[in-house]
Amino acid sequence: MYQSNREAFMQQIKGGVAIIPSSPPAIFNHDTEHRYRQDSNFYYLTGFEEPEAICVIAPEHPEYKYVLFVRPRDPEKEIWTGRRAGVEGVKANYDVDEAYPIEAFDEKISGYLENADVLYYRLGDNEAVNRKIINLFKRYSQLRLRTGKGPNTLTDPTELLGEMRLIKSKEELARIAQATELTAQAHLAAMKAIRPGMYEYELEALIDSIFRKHGGRGTAFPTIVANGENATILHYTANNCAIRDGDLVLIDAGCEYKYYNGDITRTFPANGKFTETQREIYQVVLDVQLAVIETVRPGVSIDEPNKKAVELLTEGMVELGLLKGEKEKLIEAEEYKKFYMHRVGHMLGLDTHDVNKTRDGEEHKTFQLGMVTTVEPGLYIQPDSENVPSKYLGIGIRIEDDVLVTETGNEVLTAQVPKTVEDIEQFM
Ligand code: GLY
Ligand code: MN
Ligand code: MN
Repeated sequence: MYQSNREAFMQQIKGGVAIIPSSPPAIFNHDTEHRYRQDSNFYYLTGFEEPEAICVIAPEHPEYKYVLFVRPRDPEKEIWTGRRAGVEGVKANYDVDEAYPIEAFDEKISGYLENADVLYYRLGDNEAVNRKIINLFKRYSQLRLRTGKGPNTLTDPTELLGEMRLIKSKEELARIAQATELTAQAHLAAMKAIRPGMYEYELEALIDSIFRKHGGRGTAFPTIVANGENATILHYTANNCAIRDGDLVLIDAGCEYKYYNGDITRTFPANGKFTETQREIYQVVLDVQLAVIETVRPGVSIDEPNKKAVELLTEGMVELGLLKGEKEKLIEAEEYKKFYMHRVGHMLGLDTHDVNKTRDGEEHKTFQLGMVTTVEPGLYIQPDSENVPSKYLGIGIRIEDDVLVTETGNEVLTAQVPKTVEDIEQFM
């Protein structure tokens, strides 16, 4: 998989050289490291999971087109922080044309750059490497005036790699299938376990434990368990309130499995039975979600689901009495944003929010076979909203599934988690 990713990338950067650094470790409490996670683009091209590494892709190099700079073996440090592949291990197991210790980067990189016109590098989070690259680029700007050689263009490869990552290979789809399966299992377990009086964090703990128990790396993003009006906060992660009889609970959670992510939201009654009022709003969101999923198929603009969601949600808001007026005017004035303020979905893959450039110049891009997107419309009626039927105050509903674009339309990868009123009540 990584090799074919590299080959496709090389085709795109002919005449150039790409330098992709690993993620820097993230620190909390001044000296403790978060569990390390490799940068998604670095991982996509290498499959290598260690920090302090740099990947060089040099399609024009006569011998060494794929090179990794890595931490050398160090038995003393490895006792503290774990085994390293080292230069020899990388040569043996990672399909590289050449490998060097990371300390040799400054010395060796010139040999790769001097015949390239374009240097592909993202000025990103790795400040130490950023500084090195800026210095290199300055040096080549000078040298080029004399020698006519070396890069004079610095291009961010993120967009290019993001585009490539939109279309998932078989292996990627297998990992997404496992990520979405574990995500679904956790949602089902939470729906079964919920009882009024529990705390939101108890369900969070249950969900996150299921991800880990089955070999997931953990959560794709902090799990959201939002009782009652907490569900009107889009990224509510405090998860410290009691679950109340008669309230709805919104759970938005996703598992990361072998670097690929799932992302599901369900909203359901804590006691297993919707009230009439809850059902009214829920049904509006569900009908929108089902209609928006229908729009996901090859050749359709990536923006179509957004347009459809805005149109149908605005209609729903008028029916419920949340908005008054003509649909077209309400949409033009973006009145719907009072109750629906996000986009209806995002691409899903190595990142929960994969790079998703929706336009190519003037044109909207279209869905293609092998893309995976979420569809997640919602309605959020803040507890202090004005001019809204009071029975709706404090209700937040979102319904989210992960959808694969297939030849004939789409496949909902997360369909096993019930979402109709009847199915939820029966399951619970
Ligand atoms: N919770 C992040 C998302 O659904 O996009
Ligand atoms: Mn989500
Ligand atoms: Mn999502």
